[in-house]
Amino acid sequence: MRKPATLVTGASGEVGQGLIDAYAARGDGEIIALDLRPLDAGLAARCGATIAGDILDENLLQRLVSEYEIQAIYHLAALLSTRAEYTPDTAHRVNVNGTLNLLKLAHEQARWHGRTVVFNFPSSIAVYGLPDLATKIKAGRVSEDEHNVPTTMYGCNKLYCEHLGRYFTRHYRQLAADRTPSGVDFRSVRFPGLISAFTLPSGGTSDYAAEMIHAAAEGKPYACFVSRDARIPFMAMPDAIKALTQLAHAPASSLSRRVYNVGAFSLSAAELQDRVLAAFHGARITFEPDLQRAAIVDTWPEDVDDSAARADWGWKPDFDADRAFEEYLLPNIRGFYRGKERPCDAAEPG
Ligand code: SER
Repeated sequence: MRKPATLVTGASGEVGQGLIDAYAARGDGEIIALDLRPLDAGLAARCGATIAGDILDENLLQRLVSEYEIQAIYHLAALLSTRAEYTPDTAHRVNVNGTLNLLKLAHEQARWHGRTVVFNFPSSIAVYGLPDLATKIKAGRVSEDEHNVPTTMYGCNKLYCEHLGRYFTRHYRQLAADRTPSGVDFRSVRFPGLISAFTLPSGGTSDYAAEMIHAAAEGKPYACFVSRDARIPFMAMPDAIKALTQLAHAPASSLSRRVYNVGAFSLSAAELQDRVLAAFHGARITFEPDLQRAAIVDTWPEDVDDSAARADWGWKPDFDADRAFEEYLLPNIRGFYRGKERPCDAAEPG
């Protein structure tokens, strides 16, 4: 008998760690964690099994399904926007071919066990591409179908994979004589820049927010790579986990679309700096824009319109900017650097 399980790819990443903690706390069933890197021992203890391997390795995926009956997938593995610009071919392989492999696996699994496989996919504000700052300011809160003209490889990859997910869910093998539903139920949230109190992102372009706060807490100087005026939406990590899991568990009949914006708060880099200076007196923060990286941030919206998520599945963030700083980021980051706890041993609240 194969064991029923939920597959999490990119399990060692920031979202993976928070998701596994939340999943284990809820007792939601067995997790199979897949990542290129072996999982931290604390995190691995919360999983039914851990596998160090590549989502591009189809043999590995086949071995996996011979042992486990995959009932749901959180496909988190990806190369983020800055790293993807340096290695666009690899990014395309990992972000697109990797997702296609997992969608095919979801389809096969649904066929085997005869039940729908919910495929949860984090997308990103990087799918937007505002052509210039005047348009960005005028656009304000963008809705899902506006300005879908990304300028980064990562943004192109995420946007295309949103479409692939929709295709698998609604139109897969549409010309086959024996056409049956694929069994894949693709659901995606478009995340803003995520900020965790316990982990740092790597290879993203919204990373300056988390880097600035963590550097100040550690007493290190920080040179911010965007200008003071750069503004994008952000979200505290517990809200990101909440959005992902809430959409995963929403009744299919309540969903009017496959891809949803989720918002929490929008801050300029100067506003971030003000909050960090108020919390860590004497923090040494300077602005030394890297014009090319900053230009990417300028193509992302100031904020997102998440009214569809609010209407369809009751999305509401727990943390606005004040609560994110006062109740989540500052107390946890202070504790983290005081105690030097290892990130994976520190449970994400919420
Ligand atoms: N955080 C991502 C990045 O910076 C965007 O969603 O690449």
